[in-house]
Amino acid sequence: MPEDKNKPIIEAINLCKYFKTPKGQLHAVEDVSFSLMPGKTLGVVGESGCGKSTLGRTILRLQPATSGEVRYEGENILNYNRKQMNRIHQNMQMIFQDPYSSLDPRMSIRALITEPLEVLGTKKNMSAAEEKEKVSEIMDMCGLPKYYNNLYPHELDGGMRQRVGLARAMILDPKFIVCDEPVSALDVSIQAQILNLLLDLQDRNGLSYMFITHDLAVVKYISDEIMVMYMGQVVELAESDELFAHPMHPYTRALLNSIPTIDLSRRNRERITIRGEVSSPINPAPGCRFAPRCPYATEACRQNQCLKQVSPGHFAACTEGFK
Ligand SMILES: Nc1ncnc2c1ncn2[C@@H]1O[C@H](COP(=O)(O)OP(=O)(O)O)[C@@H](O)[C@H]1O
Ligand SMILES: [Mg+2]
Repeated sequence: MPEDKNKPIIEAINLCKYFKTPKGQLHAVEDVSFSLMPGKTLGVVGESGCGKSTLGRTILRLQPATSGEVRYEGENILNYNRKQMNRIHQNMQMIFQDPYSSLDPRMSIRALITEPLEVLGTKKNMSAAEEKEKVSEIMDMCGLPKYYNNLYPHELDGGMRQRVGLARAMILDPKFIVCDEPVSALDVSIQAQILNLLLDLQDRNGLSYMFITHDLAVVKYISDEIMVMYMGQVVELAESDELFAHPMHPYTRALLNSIPTIDLSRRNRERITIRGEVSSPINPAPGCRFAPRCPYATEACRQNQCLKQVSPGHFAACTEGFK
């Protein structure tokens, strides 16, 4: 059944994920809401430890949420039982920074790409010939030469291993893929090849991505919309061009200022630099979590912040100091 292009494929509504730690409750994902349309990419950007991977895993139900909702094609999947979840799980896949750790070194590339079909029982409905056909089609789609069939993971470089990771996801004909730093470990020239492959697969198959990265150049290249996270919270959400043209939140502006610029007109623009370290959000106080590092922080920042619309489709939790 073709999906409705005007309805979100994935939505998060006030999603929270807390971990119990010996020091208290760690608020890894706090009150995150967004919606993603079919065929689009939501970039998720922020420093290490801000909750990007936890958000991705919670959305795919690889770990239980603490509260909130995750809707797949309009239905809250957090209450789904195992059988209901199995039915939609193949539509939602994940690829990782280091596919090597998830690739069994004793399995051939062919066996690795076939494996997800066995795990989800899809294979039962396929003849051996159909399966062979499917595997070569997917390998071709992911830019893996035929002779790779009989190679093993250690014989491949990082870029080719990431293509295998992607082929293992694509074999299930997913509609939504969480891409968790998939190019962060690769050389820059190889990064571009994998990003272009992802864009190509999106065009051909109408895929939606949540693309997680700490790299602003990468997120700008791949995303339609960008969500900036700080210590588990969304501080800003906007279309990609809009976010880079008009960053509003002091944290977003600090983050964008950390990219070297050769654009002279921007040289004299006020620069915010980030002081101090990111701490863990354990038993966090109410209010803005960036306040301890923010040059504009005032007493008012101890109050809870929520995203406010600053222009159509552009949301920021704070616009302090914006000129
Ligand atoms: N299983 C876990 N138990 C306890 N804390 C965790 C667990 N997984 C992640 N965290 C904590 O949650 C926060 C967010 O982590 P993570 O989602 O990995 O961030 P990112 O992917 O942005 O680097 C970090 O403070 C991390 O230490
Ligand atoms: Mg991560």
